Amino acid sequence: MILGIETSCDETAAALVTGEGEIRASVVSSQADLHARYGGVVPEVASRRHLELVTPVIREALSEAGATLDDVDRVAVTQGPGLIGALLVGLAAAKAVAWARRLPLVPVDHLNGHVASLYLQPDPLEPPFLCLLASGGHTMLLDVRGHGEHELLGTTLDDAAGEAFDKGARLLGLGYPGGRELDRLARDGDPKAYAFPVARVPGLDFSFSGLKTALLYAVRDLTPEELEARKADLAASYQHAIVRALVERVREAAAQAGRETIAVVGGVAANSELRASLPDARLAPLALCTDNAAMIASAARFTPAVAYPGYLGLDAYASR
Ligand code: KG4
Ligand code: ZN
Repeated sequence: MILGIETSCDETAAALVTGEGEIRASVVSSQADLHARYGGVVPEVASRRHLELVTPVIREALSEAGATLDDVDRVAVTQGPGLIGALLVGLAAAKAVAWARRLPLVPVDHLNGHVASLYLQPDPLEPPFLCLLASGGHTMLLDVRGHGEHELLGTTLDDAAGEAFDKGARLLGLGYPGGRELDRLARDGDPKAYAFPVARVPGLDFSFSGLKTALLYAVRDLTPEELEARKADLAASYQHAIVRALVERVREAAAQAGRETIAVVGGVAANSELRASLPDARLAPLALCTDNAAMIASAARFTPAVAYPGYLGLDAYASR
């Protein structure tokens, strides 16, 4: 059994996954409430909270799986990218558990983790496929050729898709993190009410910063009463623009790479309009879209392990 640990941002997570990719336990403790009053994740606050939560979350995962550390053969942990202080808490916890039990440790790249959310039971996807990875920090088109083997075909030139959702939500006065709230509000609005532009940049890249400015201008022109009345329409039109850009680009990328299967992973894969717009795509299960440790343990199945005690010198990395 693989014990996975994930602390790259504001979710403290631990999971137990078998070598065949069956999830025995997956515990995610979100710090969203803690950061809400600041309107975003405060890195130092996140690190301190991870420190408090990491041991209880690992314990809870073990108890949910009806297992003990005796059942664990490998420890997997997110090494990066992410908030460096937050990552270090998970890495230190993973090293401690692995070292105490003389177990091997598997350092996992968070983005490989998101892709590996597709490799879990009961319906694992087999490469090759074209993968859209859309999260709070990344928007990537990956030609996935094998487990842990992919080529980057396109990425965002400015904001990530999830960041665009969060910034839009903030402009509309929704809570943090705003993506899910905006998604909910958009269901009551008209996606055609506003024609928000999405920049078409060359190649297979994305750009979302102009869209955010367009929303800012639209909001600025409204009185507080008008804003309240048009909020759902603004949300629906804004979301529609992001989703349209993602869907167009992922289809183009699949055609260019000659891939028949399109897959979507990452927090934005939870978006209801995106899911409805890609009915033929493989979408990560809702519980595995946003950050979790099951996907990290899943990636560890296809990542070389570092033998005891070689991993004690491993460092985390903030960006690739
Ligand atoms: O993958 P994730 O949990 O963390 C990162 O690795 O960044 O993604 C979080 C992002 C946030 O920007 C959040 O607003 C967005 O995913 N998100 C959504 C939805 N649920 C989460 N965006 C749009 N619609 C949703 N339903
Ligand atoms: Zn993530």
